[in-house]
Amino acid sequence: YHVDWDPASAEKGGFSSFMEKEIHDQPDAVAQTLLGRSDINGKLTLDELRIDPALLKQVNKIIVLACGTAAYAGMVAKYAIENWCRIPTEVELAHEFRYRDPILDANTLVVSISQSGETMDTLMAVRYAREQGAKTISICNTNGSTIPRESDAVLYTHAGPEIAVASTKAFLAQITAAYLLGLYLAQLRGNIFSGQIKDVLADLNKIPAKIQKILDNAGPLRELARSMANEKSVLFLGRHVGYPVALEGALKLKEIAYIHAEGFAAGELKHGPIALIDDGQPVFVVVPSPRGRDSLHAKVVSNIQEVRARGARTLVIAEEGDEAVKAYAEYVFYVPETPTLLMPLLTTVPLQIFAAELAQAKGYDVDQPRNLAKSVTVE
Ligand code: G6P
Repeated sequence: YHVDWDPASAEKGGFSSFMEKEIHDQPDAVAQTLLGRSDINGKLTLDELRIDPALLKQVNKIIVLACGTAAYAGMVAKYAIENWCRIPTEVELAHEFRYRDPILDANTLVVSISQSGETMDTLMAVRYAREQGAKTISICNTNGSTIPRESDAVLYTHAGPEIAVASTKAFLAQITAAYLLGLYLAQLRGNIFSGQIKDVLADLNKIPAKIQKILDNAGPLRELARSMANEKSVLFLGRHVGYPVALEGALKLKEIAYIHAEGFAAGELKHGPIALIDDGQPVFVVVPSPRGRDSLHAKVVSNIQEVRARGARTLVIAEEGDEAVKAYAEYVFYVPETPTLLMPLLTTVPLQIFAAELAQAKGYDVDQPRNLAKSVTVE
């Protein structure tokens, strides 16, 4: 009996790639990022932030800056922060921000998001913001890296080292940290009741087990991905927090499977993208919870119908119990129930798995995609 052993596969913990390992690390990445940041009464305790709370109370505008996947985490952050804190929040690609003379002052809080803490465009944007007198907080996964060192404060994501070029667990950890920051600011400013913060924290603490459930049930999704290895183009639709998830799903597919993929806000469909729909065009649709208060769900369901009527293959990510999508979906992947704002922590996972499985079916090295670098330290 002979066992092949090599250190590289040992590091991958038995998985075929670092990316697969990191996808499976996600319950832990979220749990570790939540750990020790609230007390038993459901109060946020982000003492590490070390910015005078009085200054944070004066903030009247938040700008989130990042590149790549981190920028999609920033888009999710915008929905959460505005919802909980009622502070106008913009999110912008760091390289665009720098070159447009943005208006900042001492009451502006700039939140940068970076896995590596070394992305040059993000670093330069943070430097610029500081020069203009803005307060800067960095959400970062790499201890002691440049961006946190040059920021007023840092909230570390505890995803552990991410090796695969395409970001997965760092993304979920960034979103988690952004929720904590949003809740903390809301707590500080008295925007939401302490009971509500406690409830959101309880929901966040249930996320790791729900991600695990998704990972455990991904068999048919992987089969679907392998059957689609010859696709030339895949579209992704989402609305509200599902929109950045759609963008991230498309980005993953471009990055590692080299398939043309685009994410759209579902409401934009009729303003252009619907012209792309042709017989057999695969379209992933990220569907909001049917338990949401407004008509978001119904709108997205009608988007599924619209693309299906034009021949699209509809591949739907929906919440458990959502029967309404079944009639129009060729394939449905159900994620466990969670409040709408937290859904990206779940709905992103099947799209990561889909991209990784499809790329591996094509025989690509998912950890080291062509032409890409883990950390872009040039402008
Ligand atoms: C590169 C990586 C991406 C990452 C982006 C931002 O493009 O390939 O995966 O999202 O940089 O990196 P950062 O380290 O700033 O999060």
